[in-house]
Amino acid sequence: MIKTIVPAELNEKKDKLRIMDQTLLPNEEKWLELDDPESIWEAIKMLRVRGAPAIGIAAAIGLYVCSLRSQAGNVFEFGKEFEKIKDYLATSRPTAVNLFWALNRMTDRFHREKNKSIDEIKWALLDEAEKILSEDQAMCRAIGRHGLSLLKSEMGLLTYCNAGGLATSGLGTALAPIYLGCEKGYNFKVFSCETRPLLQGSRLTAYELDKAGVDVTIICDNMVSQVMKEGKIDAVLVGCDRVAANGDSANKIGTSGIAILAWEYGIPMYILGPTSTIDLDTPTGADIKIELRGEDEIGNSFGRRTAPEGVKAYNPAFDVTDAKYITAIITDRGIVKPPYTKTLMELFG
Ligand code: MRU
Repeated sequence: MIKTIVPAELNEKKDKLRIMDQTLLPNEEKWLELDDPESIWEAIKMLRVRGAPAIGIAAAIGLYVCSLRSQAGNVFEFGKEFEKIKDYLATSRPTAVNLFWALNRMTDRFHREKNKSIDEIKWALLDEAEKILSEDQAMCRAIGRHGLSLLKSEMGLLTYCNAGGLATSGLGTALAPIYLGCEKGYNFKVFSCETRPLLQGSRLTAYELDKAGVDVTIICDNMVSQVMKEGKIDAVLVGCDRVAANGDSANKIGTSGIAILAWEYGIPMYILGPTSTIDLDTPTGADIKIELRGEDEIGNSFGRRTAPEGVKAYNPAFDVTDAKYITAIITDRGIVKPPYTKTLMELFG
């Protein structure tokens, strides 16, 4: 059975958030233990922990471990400190809805327990954070099972950014069907786009697939059309950071271009994500806030300047793929097909 790295979890004593610093991969596997709001915020902002589900897990555990340090003398004061940390962590990254979903789940749990003692509330917060992590593991497997039902051995699969184990607490979303297929002896040929500017595709996806023994080939992002034209791609599998009620899906910048190419070449485009990434409160992709990141990530890419000093760079971190280009959205609860406004609503009963 394939085992992936759990990139965000509690330490053994359950008093710190333990994350693998993904900015150092593939060269170094370094773990950090964090327990203060500023370093947890920084870790999310700087992508030491990243990927929509993992950000949510890190924030939930982070909120719990920060609450352990509270010196509040009563529940009211404890609650005020809790809200302040929650609001602060919520400012770390705007696009992935899982961050807000996980923080809201922790807050709802707090409110359900507010008539108890501070110690009992802390136990409840621990329980909620652990549930968020273990439910995510189960959701990944379910996504994998549904996704695999659409694939056949020997297929060529294209993926983008990292929606694998490093982005979740389990087998990932887009990579979960690939892992489950490999467990069954399928021979997929996976193409992983580098994913400029931060190279999650080559640094992280290629790293974890290669480690798991999956046949993976990296390509530069601008090679997708050629590789599709050569007939090497049978399906595109990508993750998502927020799926709007009409099916428009935000994912790493560059995803929408791949979707348009897949449409042109008649290749199925699958978006894979847990139900926690579907945001029925966001009507369309136009309502999704796109994170803008620093110019240096483009102009100062590989530890040295890759553009002249002073030249402007524009760096949106995500884009939105219009629902019309998406063949299916694969969730832990099943496969959803157009018309998404109807089918996504039905998915939530
Ligand atoms: O900026 P990142 O690395 O957090 O972006 C990650 C992605 O875009 C992933 O595809 C997405 O979060 C899904 S992860 C299961």
